[in-house]
Amino acid sequence: MSLYFSLEIVGVVVSLVLLFYVLKWVINILYSYAIGPAINKVDFKSKGKWALVTGCTDGIGKQYALELAARGCDIVLVSRSMDKLKATAQLIETTYKVSTKIIQADFGEGEEIYEKIEKEIEGLEIGTLVNNVGISYVYPEYFLDLPDWDKLMSTLIKANIVSVTRMTKLVVPAMVKREKGVVINIGSASSIIPSPLLTVYAATKAYVEKFSEGIEMEYSKKGIIVQCVLPGFVCSNMSGIRRSSLFAPTAEQFVKSAINLVGTMRKTTGYLPHTFFVNVINAIGCISYTSCVWMVTRSMENSRRKVLKKKEKLEA
Ligand SMILES: NC(=O)c1ccc[n+]([C@@H]2O[C@H](COP(=O)([O-])OP(=O)(O)OC[C@H]3O[C@@H](n4cnc5c(N)ncnc54)[C@H](OP(=O)(O)O)[C@@H]3O)[C@@H](O)[C@H]2O)c1
Repeated sequence: MSLYFSLEIVGVVVSLVLLFYVLKWVINILYSYAIGPAINKVDFKSKGKWALVTGCTDGIGKQYALELAARGCDIVLVSRSMDKLKATAQLIETTYKVSTKIIQADFGEGEEIYEKIEKEIEGLEIGTLVNNVGISYVYPEYFLDLPDWDKLMSTLIKANIVSVTRMTKLVVPAMVKREKGVVINIGSASSIIPSPLLTVYAATKAYVEKFSEGIEMEYSKKGIIVQCVLPGFVCSNMSGIRRSSLFAPTAEQFVKSAINLVGTMRKTTGYLPHTFFVNVINAIGCISYTSCVWMVTRSMENSRRKVLKKKEKLEA
């Protein structure tokens, strides 16, 4: 066999393998974002009269509350600021003619808030739980240099990890008894791509991802749908992004996409351009992990530098 012929065979095999992976990716995307949502539509109201959303007065959480109200659910709003809770409740009631219940709670505080929430939701048939509340760093920073270190660590763990765990324990037992319910946990794409200078935030979101995976394995057979959403950048107070773009949608655009994937995808970025972004980053990581980490670190360091410069100017 000539060398030329052997190289031809290698070329054909490599092309076929590549074609297989591209086709698999395209079919997967088509199913996840088009076919699946059309055939697996979830009737949220049929899972229970009420939907409970944490961190619901802004950004992604507020949009989940609005979308669930649009689908006929009454909404339990659990968040920190009373004035924003009242405004959100009024918006939901007047727009969608459903009932709301307000619970003021700061998820950065101690575990006593869960006793209060438990009392407040007693007797309500909660069919959908959206564990959305979460906090991040104010700006990307090295682990050892984070400002107000002790307080930040404690709040990150309480708001991002304890909240998801405790709210699941409060709400899911009744769902299991009724053999139906939906739990949506908001993680972050930072847990599935390299995330230097956001280390603890990304680690708390890795907990959310793993926790969701396990709860899904344990309770899907009891009729509970569990979905973990791992968004990339979304315009919000937390991200600090004001102008939307293809890769940073508004919270409304994001949730309209993500909510349709409930029942089809257990784990999803929720939004096609974010899936593409994560795949590209991870593909670069597969080719050269070092280059990928270098690229992300440079980008995070640039953001950090900009924020610190601004801060310096303000303080001068
Ligand atoms: N935006 C993004 O780019 C992005 C990307 C990936 C993942 N996520 C995740 O998506 C979720 C929502 O983020 P977002 O960007 O929509 O945030 P956001 O716009 O800042 O809104 C956060 C909401 O949570 C409430 N909240 C904050 N801290 C709280 C606390 N300690 N106790 C009770 N409520 C609290 C806020 O109420 P107050 O206004 O009263 O504080 C607000 O209603 C988070 O879990 C986040 O990690 C966001």
